[in-house]
Amino acid sequence: MTLPEPDPQSDPQSEPQPEPALQPVTHAADSSGAWWRSAVIYQVYPRSWADADGDGIGDLPGITARLDHLVELGVDALWLSPFYASPMHDAGYDVADYRAVDALFGTLADADALVARAHQLGLRVIIDLVPNHTSSDHPWFQEALAAPAGSPQRARYLFREGSGPEGSEPPNDWRSVFGGRAWSRVPDPRTGDPGQWYLHLFDVTQPDLDWTNPQVHAEFEAVLRFWLDRGVDGFRVDVAHGLVKEPGLPDWSAEQELLSSGEDDDDGDDDGDDGDHGRRRAPMWDQDGVHDIYRAWRRVLNTYNPPDAPDHDPALDRILCAEAWVDPLPRAARYVRPDEMHQAFNFEYLQAPWTAAGQRAVIAASYAACDAVGAPTTWVLSNHDVIRHATRLALDSARRTGRGPQGLGATDPVPDAALGLRRARAATAIMLALPGSAYLYQGEELGLPEHTSLPDELRQDPTWVRTDHGAYGRDGCRVPMPWAGDAPAYGFNAAGASWLPQPAAYGALAVDRQQGVPGSTYELYRTLLRIRRDRRLGTGELRFVAGYTKEVLAFEVRAPGRPGVLVLANLGTAPIPLPADARVLVGSAAPTADGAPDGSTLPVDGTVWLAAD
Ligand code: GLC
Repeated sequence: MTLPEPDPQSDPQSEPQPEPALQPVTHAADSSGAWWRSAVIYQVYPRSWADADGDGIGDLPGITARLDHLVELGVDALWLSPFYASPMHDAGYDVADYRAVDALFGTLADADALVARAHQLGLRVIIDLVPNHTSSDHPWFQEALAAPAGSPQRARYLFREGSGPEGSEPPNDWRSVFGGRAWSRVPDPRTGDPGQWYLHLFDVTQPDLDWTNPQVHAEFEAVLRFWLDRGVDGFRVDVAHGLVKEPGLPDWSAEQELLSSGEDDDDGDDDGDDGDHGRRRAPMWDQDGVHDIYRAWRRVLNTYNPPDAPDHDPALDRILCAEAWVDPLPRAARYVRPDEMHQAFNFEYLQAPWTAAGQRAVIAASYAACDAVGAPTTWVLSNHDVIRHATRLALDSARRTGRGPQGLGATDPVPDAALGLRRARAATAIMLALPGSAYLYQGEELGLPEHTSLPDELRQDPTWVRTDHGAYGRDGCRVPMPWAGDAPAYGFNAAGASWLPQPAAYGALAVDRQQGVPGSTYELYRTLLRIRRDRRLGTGELRFVAGYTKEVLAFEVRAPGRPGVLVLANLGTAPIPLPADARVLVGSAAPTADGAPDGSTLPVDGTVWLAAD
């Protein structure tokens, strides 16, 4: 293949190499055969995917009936956000019974049927585990409220005496991630007078558990077994970096966000000195003690498919995936050491700058950190907590951070939808070429944008109220899926009801409007996933390619014994010519009139996969 002449005029700083050339291996191929190291996992947000009973809120039978969509798309597994019994103050991330399905979503039999059908279709099922806090409706918390200070019932949560005169001030200055204080005061059950305070890092209805209490450990290990026995393939672990708090609960006056930043002394031990170089680690996040919890859970999972047994089958591995908003990457990689979790969302990637240098740096740093512990990287661009990437990538960089509940409202500048979609498609085409695992969020395969003009009175995210309407929160990425452009509620159900209204733009993006349409986002995702599977890119080795201008991200991925792909992403300001004899496998940019990808130039904000056979 002849490669294009780099244009020295466009980039005097970066001294392009005379010839494009493969760089040393940045990430080696994986031959373990473990499904989760390269799986593409699709996040279903049960409230908003498919609604069988027509009440306007999605449900498990609705999901089961639509699983074929995931087979046609070509993913390997699905992750379900919580469907457990809950008063739904945080959309089910406030669990009242970890072993029951909320009536809104169906029954335990419906959950069993969903898992069985998914398995029939060759899809694995990951469910959500919420161990940092329960709902305030959970029997444990109700017992704690009825029991006196110092009782064993209260010792499952973080109850403390207040400070100041008569304990009228909270025990410390921690803030809730959703806004406001992280402490609430409860009456003394004997006198009815104001009594102790309890900690809630999120909503007042989400009391934090005390993970120094062995009962809490025993309960969650039993919950793991309950669902593993029902056949689930793994767990996404909510707020995995938050379970253990620094002893003494010291004050933390810094702005509260979900993210823990620190530095790593890289000595690999748990002596507590990691992160002490000038910056203190937030006392509620990423404490070293969390790792013992995950080691214990890994042992539980391993009993279902013992790794050292002669008949160990990697296809039967059950997995844990951490939601840990932790940086830098080596700190996050501690969650996926060999005896801990299998995956941890790569949120640094989700927040990476939209520049070739920024993308390259985060990709290289991700492999360096994860390869050092023998774990796969787990790429992700969207989920139910962040602005959808088809909108986020059109925002200026300062507003792109995904670090906590945020959102957009009607008074914000309207993001450029075409720019956002173009970049989102290019970003996904980068991500799905990368070796490792990747998570997709429902609707991104349609290019759905964030709903940015929800009426304020319909907002449901507790953030909206807890910040006194200072942050819109996450409702805009949680709007129900459009399945059929001409149907009521765009086919979300037959009744036309929808717990959040769908924007008019969703009609043209509905599944049935994109199926079989060359160049549609849905068909782009299908093609990317098919090529990724055929060429086993998820288990391939990755090398960067030098010789392009610094505005082009260029890398080659190749699995042993398979043809590879050369990925070029143009994150600059001018189109670039493609190599004269390039064979385009798939391109993110809109196709030419005959439906074929343009084989001669790569437009700005475009990614192309070229055959590297
Ligand atoms: C996680 C969830 C988020 C939830 C929070 C509290 O960040 O992804 O949706 O609000 O935890 O459980």
